[in-house]
Amino acid sequence: MGSKNLTATLLLFTTFLFISRSTSAVHSPPRLNATTNDLTFIRTSCNATLYADLCFNSLAGYASAVQNNPARLAKLAIGVTISKAKSTALFLTKFSHSATKAKDCASYLKDALDEMRDSLRTLRNISRGVGIDSAAPSSVEMFRFKMSDVQTYMSAALTYEDTCTDEYDETDEVGGTKTAVYDRVNNLKRLTSNALALVNSYANNGAP
Ligand SMILES: *[C@@H]1O[C@H](CO)[C@@H](O)[C@H](O)[C@H]1NC(C)=O
Ligand SMILES: *[C@@H]1O[C@H](CO)[C@@H](O)[C@H](O)[C@H]1NC(C)=O
Ligand SMILES: *[C@@H]1O[C@H](CO)[C@@H](O)[C@H](O)[C@H]1NC(C)=O
Repeated sequence: MGSKNLTATLLLFTTFLFISRSTSAVHSPPRLNATTNDLTFIRTSCNATLYADLCFNSLAGYASAVQNNPARLAKLAIGVTISKAKSTALFLTKFSHSATKAKDCASYLKDALDEMRDSLRTLRNISRGVGIDSAAPSSVEMFRFKMSDVQTYMSAALTYEDTCTDEYDETDEVGGTKTAVYDRVNNLKRLTSNALALVNSYANNGAP
């Protein structure tokens, strides 16, 4: 065998090694499978909400972190809603100097934010088992009791958001500001409603 042939053979061999290694890296199925299952879980859970498509679209990006865990899903939904509430409140402060209603609305959204933060803190405590002794016969009741707090906070948040749009409804402000506020706050209300529905599902099915 001449040295040219040897070089060609070696080159072919290393190329083969390289290709087989990269294809085996591309075709690693466990991750893909997990993602499909995780997405199905989000799709199915979102089916219990009023705005299922919005629910799926807002949460699907975090599917691999949620996996099949309804507690994580509820916390994620509240977290996503909190960040939307923050940006909406910030958006409203831009108009506060000219529109009193925008200022009022921003302050209602801040109240809604406080409620949602409380609900998230309570959920985190539940996940860490704070105040819930899983060996005690009363642990299911304790779980339900704490979850009812979470439900109350989320309902209160939704009520604050409703108050914002109700008051805005009474203004004769036309065009730009009112429409922009409406669109954003209504979107926030849908996210909040969805998060509450996911909290309700967890409360009904997630007892320890
Ligand atoms: C991926 O899912 C398919 C069917 O959905 C299954 O046959 C296969 O064993 C799974 N692979 C892994 C690695 O879990
Ligand atoms: C959603 O719920 C409906 C009934 O309420 C059911 O027919 C449908 O199969 C569900 N879809 C998913 C993806 O779970
Ligand atoms: C969470 O638990 C801590 C104790 O670890 C407690 O101080 C705090 O008040 C609890 N928060 C809520 C919202 O329940």
